[in-house]
Amino acid sequence: MKVLLAVLKQIHKPALCTGNPRCLSSGATSGLLPLGDEAPMVGSSPELVQKLGSQVEVRTDFITEAEEAAFLRELDPGLKKKRYEFDHWDDAIHGYRETERLRWGAACEEILNRVRSTAFPECSQLLGPVHVIDLDKTGYIKPHIDSVKFCGSTIAGLSLLSDSIMRLVKEDTPSEWLDLLLSRRSLYILRDQARYKFTHEILKNEESVFNGQRVPRQRRISVICRNLPG
Ligand code: OGA
Ligand code: MN
Repeated sequence: MKVLLAVLKQIHKPALCTGNPRCLSSGATSGLLPLGDEAPMVGSSPELVQKLGSQVEVRTDFITEAEEAAFLRELDPGLKKKRYEFDHWDDAIHGYRETERLRWGAACEEILNRVRSTAFPECSQLLGPVHVIDLDKTGYIKPHIDSVKFCGSTIAGLSLLSDSIMRLVKEDTPSEWLDLLLSRRSLYILRDQARYKFTHEILKNEESVFNGQRVPRQRRISVICRNLPG
């Protein structure tokens, strides 16, 4: 368990990251392409939204309020024992506490199985423990690409307690970007190029604007499932 926690920490190292979110915020006001209710994403060009659209999914209201409450009941007591970490400036996450969990109560296990069957092919080997990140209201995740050594082609995450914006930026072409509105209780899935060729980040409250509209950030808990490298 200890070893795996250490291994997972490495996914946060922003070694491969080149995108600077601050540089992009002015670009984020032009060239937007809303896709409608089912796909809350806007990007730097229609072509990019079209191309990446098949590798990025956001399912709004994937879980109910009761299901969100079930996760909180299971996670909050353990999380509350930890302190938010703010002062590791070289870390890819600011203002967070995290845990991982292998065994879940029946209610959460059922929801997680729904996430797994939605996001991963049946034959896919999954990373056993589910990763949980609790971001403070002022917390954020800087641009990074998850370790290719420890995680496979697909990343699926539930967002609890707060809306937020996930920004994808092409690693070698920062003018190519995609913003996802991750509403509270939604599920996002990143696959293939969206996972390997684009950095992803969760915007801080001050920068949390989607398609010109302010999206206030509260405390946010994410519950993330990953597969193993193939
Ligand atoms: C990560 C990550 C996103 C999220 O832990 O590598 O990108 O939704 N998390 O918390
Ligand atoms: Mn990540």
